[in-house]
Amino acid sequence: MSTGTEFLIVAIDGPAASGKSSVARNLAQRLDFAYINSGALYRAIAWLAAMHHIPPDDIAAIMSRLDQTSFEFGIRNKELFILMDGTNPGTHLREHIVNRTVSIVASAAEIRAFLLIQLRAFVRYDNLVMEGRDIGSSVFPYTPFKFYIDASPHIRAQRREAQGFQDDLRYRDLVDSSRQSSPLALVEDAYRIDSSTLSIDAVVDRIFEGLKAQNFPLAYLQR
Ligand code: CDP
Repeated sequence: MSTGTEFLIVAIDGPAASGKSSVARNLAQRLDFAYINSGALYRAIAWLAAMHHIPPDDIAAIMSRLDQTSFEFGIRNKELFILMDGTNPGTHLREHIVNRTVSIVASAAEIRAFLLIQLRAFVRYDNLVMEGRDIGSSVFPYTPFKFYIDASPHIRAQRREAQGFQDDLRYRDLVDSSRQSSPLALVEDAYRIDSSTLSIDAVVDRIFEGLKAQNFPLAYLQR
């Protein structure tokens, strides 16, 4: 599969609180690529459902609510922006209700199919660092630049606590890796990095090494 464009994609996957968001953002800045956190779109839908008191497993009701909502998103200043009925959901996306429900919402094939089309379309606009659970396995399986950022469950729990959010990581890991539709998984051709004892810069340095090994255009690495 090819998009027929010249744009490059770096896929970053991994479990919750593995450090992938900080790493992906930092990497995108160093490469001067756009940074897309695909999880924010799943979170926005979970937030929409919560706002309308729709249970996270009532997918028909969520899809119908989505139909009636103006859900706009795109790239602005090299980052993802999201507007729901004209409003940026902002910090609501990190609320406990969203942490509790997002994995259930994201396990629905209909929701995934809806976002898959949108996520793939981003490559028409810019070079991308995209992070999520299924970017290397399902959204852009053809990119040679795939990384899987992991960390021990203990370290991940500590990191999320330090961010001040209530988040049952074990529950989310379980739902994310056991769902039928594009589950979180380490694909064979991804370069796995355990970030448990590494700084963000050190993980990004490892990614640079991995990119070089995959013949990533050197001009981007020398910025
Ligand atoms: O930041 P954190 O790693 O906690 O999660 P996130 O990237 O914001 O993603 C939130 C949730 O969205 C995940 O737990 C998954 O259920 C879902 N997700 C997904 O299914 N596929 C993606 N590509 C990205 C997120």
